[in-house]
Amino acid sequence: MSSTTELELLRPDDWHVHLRDGALLGAVVNHTARQFARAIVMPNLKPPVTTVAAARAYRDRILAAVDPALGFTPLMTAYLTDDTDPNELALGRREGVFTAAKLYPANATTNSAAGVTDVRRLDRALERMQELGLPLLVHGEVVDAGVDVFDREAVFLERVLAPTVARFPGLRVVVEHITTRQAVDFVTAAGPNVGATITPHHLEINRNAMFEGGLRPHFYCLPVAKREEHRLALRRAATSGDPKFFLGTDSAPHRVPDKESACGCAGIWNAPVALESYAKTFEEENALDRLEAFASVHGPRFYGLPVNGARVRLVREPSRVPERVATPAGELVPFHAGRELGWRFSGPVP
Ligand code: DOR
Ligand code: ZN
Repeated sequence: MSSTTELELLRPDDWHVHLRDGALLGAVVNHTARQFARAIVMPNLKPPVTTVAAARAYRDRILAAVDPALGFTPLMTAYLTDDTDPNELALGRREGVFTAAKLYPANATTNSAAGVTDVRRLDRALERMQELGLPLLVHGEVVDAGVDVFDREAVFLERVLAPTVARFPGLRVVVEHITTRQAVDFVTAAGPNVGATITPHHLEINRNAMFEGGLRPHFYCLPVAKREEHRLALRRAATSGDPKFFLGTDSAPHRVPDKESACGCAGIWNAPVALESYAKTFEEENALDRLEAFASVHGPRFYGLPVNGARVRLVREPSRVPERVATPAGELVPFHAGRELGWRFSGPVP
């Protein structure tokens, strides 16, 4: 074990986050903004963020809710539907509103009912995105009830994403929150225009976590955690130094009653401990020296954006994660609730 007691990194970005809206937005946004300079904000609101005007208005609400002293920039995404107008994507790109567009297969996850029923319906949009260099962010799961829930990502890669990448070889694609060895292999074998985000929770838990001593809704997210062999493949990918893999928390808060329910929502709220959780994984893999590249360099490079100038610090200091966090929007359960973590995010390097 190294004797490192402090870790300084270029300030990282979160390339996949759910900031929600209304009171919940106010309750969660500073947790993300404290650690990350920028974040790719998911558009799965009700109604979904499908237009430039809606994205601009949502960005304004985020900026009104965030503590300005934290210096946070939200990067907005368009929610793709069967009827997405390629001109709307071009307009959003031109006006500096859309950084990317998100593909949710219809009914794959939270607020995805307006998503895409057949990827072929996106042909015109994808063609334009390829021309514009506007990245396609993918929730990579089939929704076919005949496909086992634990196989939905691997089947999506084979049936949907591989043919799409072949038809649009210049399209920039991020396979979001990957959970399988198959996804690691797919991204590794693809061209440099294909990357992936990896969450702190998929690096930390396998599917057993959902069933330990009883049903554990706070470990339920989509894509669902898989077997241990897949978690190990994700850990190898994240710590490999390969620039195709970068940080995206998929922090997805839901109020306690919406999680602890007969039909609980998918999503893990990891924003309060995101960097601490990644640091835990990288330390366990003897790869702390590669955390900065994964957290702060590979993402901006993929998106063609500058790396952040400021630096942040983590200190080696045991800190207990609260069981619950009371907010004006209701109680939330953070990832690692009730556990002790060995690293603590201490803020910007003065
Ligand atoms: O677990 C998840 N929660 N996965 C998603 O794809 C959506 C997210 C949410 O919005 O709650
Ligand atoms: Zn997500």
